[in-house]
Amino acid sequence: MTDTNRFEELFKKALEASENSYSPYSHFPVGAALLMEDGTVITGCNVENRSYGLTNCAERTAVFTAVARGYKTFRALAIAAPKADYPVGPCGACRQVLTEFAPQDTPVIFGPSYEKSVVKTLGELYPFDSLHELGD
Ligand code: THU
Repeated sequence: MTDTNRFEELFKKALEASENSYSPYSHFPVGAALLMEDGTVITGCNVENRSYGLTNCAERTAVFTAVARGYKTFRALAIAAPKADYPVGPCGACRQVLTEFAPQDTPVIFGPSYEKSVVKTLGELYPFDSLHELGD
């Protein structure tokens, strides 16, 4: 399978995941799909709360679900925000969380649709990453 096919497939899963979004406050559904090293795809959606600051982004929902299922290294990420007018990249908090589990060359594809999506590496989105030396 080519990278293009793989990205399209991953983006489709992110789009499907956005259908489960709980976003009654922003009305802005987001879905994320993470590709694992063994080919498994784990998805997440944004989950909002009436105490707005407790909202969890789609990306972090996917990351935390993946870790809870035993995965700790990610190969690619797709983010679908179907109501956006332009490609919406992950927020700063999600970029930090992603770098815990994905190397700088990890491709991140994001957009309102696959046709309008862009691909950046995690290193482009989050350069000069903070220290990793505290881990084992
Ligand atoms: N949101 C995400 O889930 N991921 C992003 O990359 C951007 C923003 C969510 C948070 C909130 O529920 C809604 O989109 C509006 O900001």
